[in-house]
Amino acid sequence: MMRGMSSTVDRVRWPVRTERLSLRPATGHDVDATWRYRRLEEVGRWIGFAPTSRDEYAAMFLDPNRLRKTLLVELDGVVIGDLMLAVGDGWAQHEVSAQAKGVEAELGWSFDPAYGGKGYATEAVAELLRVCFEDLRLRRVTANCFADNTASWRLMERLGMRREVHTLRESLHRSGEWLDGMAYALLAEEWRGR
Ligand SMILES: CC(C)(COP(=O)(O)OP(=O)(O)OC[C@H]1O[C@@H](n2cnc3c(N)ncnc32)[C@H](O)[C@@H]1OP(=O)(O)O)[C@@H](O)C(=O)NCCC(=O)NCCS
Repeated sequence: MMRGMSSTVDRVRWPVRTERLSLRPATGHDVDATWRYRRLEEVGRWIGFAPTSRDEYAAMFLDPNRLRKTLLVELDGVVIGDLMLAVGDGWAQHEVSAQAKGVEAELGWSFDPAYGGKGYATEAVAELLRVCFEDLRLRRVTANCFADNTASWRLMERLGMRREVHTLRESLHRSGEWLDGMAYALLAEEWRGR
């Protein structure tokens, strides 16, 4: 669980471009561009909150606390996915807690399945890791998923992220089942030595 999340997207020069993609902060005008794929059952299946109506989705998307952590991934001007970049504090003992402020980030991702299987998510998240470690100078990046979300943890492993935790039946899925979870992390020095 991240503590003291805050936005730092304004510390980066956007848009950030990769070979095929462009990354930029989301705005209030991006509800429909993301709802187009976020409404699909296969996209919502493993994510924390999957609204089933456009209005409910818009309320979630436009929540300022969430919007400032949302980035969009574009291919030739078309939104093909969204990313979460939630910068927060590392865990620290009280006496040294000031040194742990804003030093790590939790990441998340959802892509339009119409663009799946072409390495776009890998390319976008690889760039997001670069932003975290080079531009924002963070010391650690984390991400979580249900253990059954094979596409998500395979993405993390392709990117060199390291599995730190495999929990047993600790996460309640909306199906009513308690499922296993996984937590991955990457340290700045691991990223530099990749
Ligand atoms: C998680 C998610 C982003 C992964 O999507 P993905 O299509 O598997 O990932 P990529 O776009 O990086 O594509 C990788 C695939 O393309 C292939 N590929 C083709 N060209 C590639 C390239 N240039 N670079 C890397 N991979 C390439 C890879 O081999 C891989 O295929 P494989 O799975 O058959 O081995 C996607 O499944 C998703 O959005 N899921 C729904 C939301 C969700 O679960 N979010 C996470 C919650 S924790």
